[in-house]
Amino acid sequence: MKKILVVLGGGRPNGNTAQLTNAFIQRAVSAGHQVELLSLNQVEVNGCLGCNACRYGKPCVQKDGFNAIAPKITEADLIVFASPLYFWTISSKIKAFIERFYCIAQEDENPPLGRYEHYPIHDCALLMTSADRYFWTFEQAVSYYKFTIINYIGFQDKGMLLAGGCGNTNGSPRISETNHLEAAYRFGREIYQCREKTF
Ligand SMILES: Cc1cc2nc3c(=O)[nH]c(=O)nc-3n(C[C@H](O)[C@H](O)[C@H](O)COP(=O)(O)O)c2cc1C
Repeated sequence: MKKILVVLGGGRPNGNTAQLTNAFIQRAVSAGHQVELLSLNQVEVNGCLGCNACRYGKPCVQKDGFNAIAPKITEADLIVFASPLYFWTISSKIKAFIERFYCIAQEDENPPLGRYEHYPIHDCALLMTSADRYFWTFEQAVSYYKFTIINYIGFQDKGMLLAGGCGNTNGSPRISETNHLEAAYRFGREIYQCREKTF
C-alpha cells in the first residue's frame, strides 16, 4: 500500500482533468492505495515570493494553504500532478505549488552538479488533458515536468498520461468520448505493478 497525494491544478469542477483524475484515483484506491486529492481550486497556494526567509530557518512568510499541505508532501510515497494544458504548459496553479517546494528543501552539504539543496524524494506522475492532440501538444509541459520534477527536484517518474483531444472549454467536457478514462483506470490500477510507463 502506498500513500498517494494527487494535486489537481485547476480545470472545471467536472471537467476533463477532474474526470481523468477521478478515474485514476478510483482504481488506485481499489488497488489498495491510500489516496488523498488536493484540489488547488479549493485550497489557495500562491507562488514563491523569493524572500528567502525559509533559508534562514524560518517558516514560509505566506499564510496560505501550503503550510498545511507541506507535511502531506513529506509523507507521500507518490505525488501525482494533474493539470489541464494552458497555453501549452501546466496550469499556473500547479506551477505555483511547485515553486513552494523551495521552502521544504533542506541544506545539502554535498549536492550533485546542478542542484543546490535536497528535497524529500518521492515517486511522481503526470496527468494532463488538452483540446489539441498534435505530436507536440504536450512537449513544453512534459519538458517542464522532466526538467524540474525529475532532473532537478529528483523525483522518480512513474509515468505520464497525456490526454489530448478532449475538446476545448467552450463546451462540455468530451473526455468520455475518448479512450483516456480507460487509460486512467489502468494507470491507477497498475502504477505500482511495473516501472515507468506512458499511457
Ligand atoms: C486558458 C486556457 C488555455 C488553454 N490552452 C490550451 C493549449 O495551449 N492547448 C490546448 O490543446 N488546449 C488548451 N486549452 C484547452 C484545455 O486544455 C482543455 O479543454 C482541457 O481539457 C480543459 O480541462 P478541464 O475540462 O479540466 O477544464 C486551454 C484552455 C484554457 C481555458
